Amino acid sequence: MTFLYFNRPSKRNAMSPQLHYEMDDALGWLAHDDETKVLILTGKGESFCAGQDLKLYFRQNFDDPVEWARSQAAANAWRWHKISGFPKPTIAMVNGYCFGGAFTPVCACDIAICADEATFGLSEVNWGVIPGGIVSWNIAQLLNHRDAMFYAMTGLPFDGKKAAEMKLVNYSVPLAGLREETTRIANILLEKNPYALRYTKEAVRHVRGMEHDQAYNFLAAKLQALQHVDKEKGMEKGLSSFLDEKKHKPGFGTFDR
Ligand code: ACO
Repeated sequence: MTFLYFNRPSKRNAMSPQLHYEMDDALGWLAHDDETKVLILTGKGESFCAGQDLKLYFRQNFDDPVEWARSQAAANAWRWHKISGFPKPTIAMVNGYCFGGAFTPVCACDIAICADEATFGLSEVNWGVIPGGIVSWNIAQLLNHRDAMFYAMTGLPFDGKKAAEMKLVNYSVPLAGLREETTRIANILLEKNPYALRYTKEAVRHVRGMEHDQAYNFLAAKLQALQHVDKEKGMEKGLSSFLDEKKHKPGFGTFDR
């Protein structure tokens, strides 16, 4: 498993243009890195990420339209497209402050686990803007309407337990056990056939918003495509392990690859 860090701890890991360019490069590279089988996104120090760097991303960029456009494009590319389309499983491990623009990569990850003690906030309204980038779209998709409106409009912070209750994350654990728990889940994913995992995440992500017939046909094509790309011939092995060798019960876990 590979840990990818927000790494500006002295600035609570706020996202500067430079951070966006580096994350964009890193994710492009990690997508094709054979050693990276599960990606865990987290923050160095006591923060996950304090949102956009209000000085370097906003104030400084306002006078430079070219840099503004460049950094906006990179910010959107890595936080949404490169993470949501990452060909391997992704886990957001939210270890502390998570504000504004940091919601997007959390929502883009396949799985999110946070510390009970983490502090989340849609703080945009507190300094006079809207949840921009695509944060409003993220919360409209993932949260129920009442929660999305309440936290976007009041700007009130909430803790990790509340984030779990609202299903912004899968669940929360005490900070002291966060890394161990995230690693445990990553290890479960590492046991699986990576081709089946990739197609599973693409299937679940893409059927959202499809009509029944479209989804049915899309999934049938995906299943067929998986048989072609799966170099491990996982389905044959999995069936044989249960039906012929009677070595494992798929209901309780994956077969021994
Ligand atoms: N942008 C720029 N600098 C930041 C940011 C940020 N988003 N967050 C923290 N920093 C800097 C501080 O300016 C300070 O720098 P300095 O040491 O050079 O003065 C340093 O990080 C430490 O910050 P403190 O405020 O001293 O840390 P504290 O632990 O007391 O508070 C907190 C942390 C709550 C995160 C606070 O810094 C804060 O409210 N930050 C802004 C959060 C925010 O609203 N982000 C924008 C969301 S909207 C969007 O992303 C579009």
